[in-house]
Amino acid sequence: MMDDIRRIAADAQSRIAGAATLEELAELDRSNLGKGSELGGFKRQMGALDPDERRTVGAALNEARRAVEAAVAARRAELDAAAARERAAAERLDLTEVRAGRDAGHLHLVTQTIEELEDVFVGLGFTVEEGPEVEDDWHNFTALNFGEHHPARDMQDTFFVDLGAEREVVMRTHTSPVQIRVMEDREPPIYSVMPGRVYRNEATDATHLAVFHQIECLVVDRGITFGHLAGTIDAFTKAYFGDAWNTRLRPAYFPFTEPSAEFDVQRPDGSWLELGGSGMVHPNVLANCGIDPEEHSGFAFGFGLDRLAATKHGVTDIREFASTDIRFLEQF
Ligand code: FA5
Repeated sequence: MMDDIRRIAADAQSRIAGAATLEELAELDRSNLGKGSELGGFKRQMGALDPDERRTVGAALNEARRAVEAAVAARRAELDAAAARERAAAERLDLTEVRAGRDAGHLHLVTQTIEELEDVFVGLGFTVEEGPEVEDDWHNFTALNFGEHHPARDMQDTFFVDLGAEREVVMRTHTSPVQIRVMEDREPPIYSVMPGRVYRNEATDATHLAVFHQIECLVVDRGITFGHLAGTIDAFTKAYFGDAWNTRLRPAYFPFTEPSAEFDVQRPDGSWLELGGSGMVHPNVLANCGIDPEEHSGFAFGFGLDRLAATKHGVTDIREFASTDIRFLEQF
């Protein structure tokens, strides 16, 4: 009987070690240790043995059970680890990998949008300018005619940088400070666009990000009127979206433009989307940059690129743009 127990246990252990799947292992576990198993059968025969033999056989049975249980646990750990390795291999994302027959990657949709818009505006005769993302109060607010204690400063919830005097250095809240830098550096005529990343201390939702993108447009020349502003907005909208899209301007307030207007674009289905702000450059702003408002006038507008790209490509939540999910990103 003792030999039989050892043989059965050894046999079970070797079959368990060879189980190819977790299902097969579960079956071997049940047939070797469960009710009706060969080892179980010995237990029923023990009643017929004398006490000494019963003790020896009982100990051998316990040892056999423990050995078989240990074999099941060891094989289960091996199969679990193999399954985890397989899962990890299937979900593997090597961002440096060059897939056969495909490019190594592509520009983010927002970057593609910036490049497309630059092309549209360069085609209309504009230059492309850039400015710093960490700005001083002068360029982000004061030169743009935001009074020191003017409530308009609260229109854009600001991230302050712990540098210099208190509240002196900010993460730029819009691309309008680049207008100031361009006007400080250059004489009119100015026909420029200024794309870039901007920052606001905002709660995010489907149409708001804390880090997003705008493009600013600035024209300063002799005899520039509100008509030029409206015409330029309409021309770029049709060039970017197509001839079926229209625009409208609604009265608004910005400290740096007067008059000011918000502008909306109308989709071919008739619905409207608010895209940005605009207006005639305020005479104080021209003067702050050393440009004589009696001689020159100008218009400016600025709008959100993330919302623009989302509208064009049917993205319903702009938070997707900040995600690293390759399945979203590779659609564009
Ligand atoms: C401005 O930022 C002004 N500088 C625009 C301007 C430029 C007016 C030149 C006059 C002359 P506003 O805060 O409304 O304005 O933002 C402009 C656009 O940026 C919005 O219409 C929207 O499209 C986008 N935007 C604003 N906040 C967010 C945000 N949190 N997430 C994504 N897009 C945003």
